[in-house]
Amino acid sequence: MRIAMIGTGYVGLVSGACFADFGHRVCCVDKDGSKIEALNDGIMPIWEPGLESLVKANVGHGRLTFTTDLQSAVEGAEAIFIAVGTPARRGDGHADLTYVFDAVRELARFIQPGAVVVTKSTVPVGTGDKIEQILSEEGIEEVSVASNPEFLREGAAIADFKHPDRIVVGAEDPRAQDVLREIYRPLFLNRAPILITGRRTAELTKYAANAFLAVKISFINEISDLCEAVDADVQDVARGIGLDNRIGPKFLHAGPGYGGSCFPKDTLALLQTADAAGVDQRIVRTTVAVNDDRKSSMVERVVRALGGDPKGKRVGALGLAFKPNTDDMREAPAIPIVKALVERGAAVCAFDPVAMSQAEQVLSGIQFADDAYAAADGADVLVIVTEWDEFRALDLERVAASLRGKILVDLRNVYDPGEAEEAGLTYYGVGRGRPRG
Ligand code: UGA
Repeated sequence: MRIAMIGTGYVGLVSGACFADFGHRVCCVDKDGSKIEALNDGIMPIWEPGLESLVKANVGHGRLTFTTDLQSAVEGAEAIFIAVGTPARRGDGHADLTYVFDAVRELARFIQPGAVVVTKSTVPVGTGDKIEQILSEEGIEEVSVASNPEFLREGAAIADFKHPDRIVVGAEDPRAQDVLREIYRPLFLNRAPILITGRRTAELTKYAANAFLAVKISFINEISDLCEAVDADVQDVARGIGLDNRIGPKFLHAGPGYGGSCFPKDTLALLQTADAAGVDQRIVRTTVAVNDDRKSSMVERVVRALGGDPKGKRVGALGLAFKPNTDDMREAPAIPIVKALVERGAAVCAFDPVAMSQAEQVLSGIQFADDAYAAADGADVLVIVTEWDEFRALDLERVAASLRGKILVDLRNVYDPGEAEEAGLTYYGVGRGRPRG
């Protein structure tokens, strides 16, 4: 199959590289010339485990190319995937579809009859209909429009793409269904289930999946507050409910609230869709509010651990990215937490294994350390914000020795409270019984 992938962000680049790895011929297009130049030199625009070698291998085999020239990518392509950004519009949370519609208008000039235009970006319900309308305004008929939402997670993107729980294809047209079946054929051989459904249904399925996971996280975060009030342990509650097959163990880790480029944006976009349809979605609305409050309550947690006033105190922060295995700082809980502490007079010294250069662009007035121990050095409190693997096996006695205040605030419940206390630390986790001190 010949595939054009428009947009080389997370979804576009990973999907393009994986499709090429399935044996298809993929041309990735992006307007950003410096990004394309870098990709052609083997330099990845994002930090994602395994991506660089996958891209290099497929470029080497001649199956994967990068260009800024839309025409050469789209001409002759049997499927054109749209994977451009759909940022939340400032102020109202609507997904901004300017990039999607601009791409459609442009590709209309070069598309061949019989081709399928597929949205892979997360787009609101009805976007496929609008794309169809734009194509017809441009005089293009005999082209199908399908929805094929992507469910990969940053940090595990390649494994998620190659071993998906399911593939969702929204297309009424049998020809579009066939093209997508052919593209994903290598995965069906591995028995990945494919759900063929209506286009609007597929578009909504993506929002419903992210919203549901966001609900699960906010739910366990609220339960963790209750655990602290009644002296129960949220880790055990999560395990106790997660072992029930109907609930499942995943996405039940209490923490500082969800971040990233997807859950915050997609929950808001779902609410906008619901508003426009005149249907209230109270659960998702409350989830968004719970998550917003969560971040400020994390600041109070650190302040309490410091005895009530952070002014003049030194705070070591471990992990800045919104989750491990990524350098992505979008909506990272670290941002409001660190900013609030700095505003209230604390000196923050932070370390993240890969996100520090991204963090520098959004956090000012803090110091960056070379490693976890250096962040702890002389601090009154050490706060684990993101659960990178390398923070899971710190020498706690060494940490205690370098800390001035001997306090560990573990916002990801990485450590066993008993173990931390044995090492001489006062430990505050999330939802692990009534906090001491
Ligand atoms: C999320 C979804 O998991 C993917 O399926 C989806 O494709 C993607 O959005 C998207 O729409 O593109 P991602 O944002 O990369 O993926 O990251 P997640 O692993 O889902 O984590 C999101 C946030 O939830 C992080 O801040 C993480 O720390 C938090 N989280 C996750 C928790 O606080 N607790 C948990 O138990 C799980």
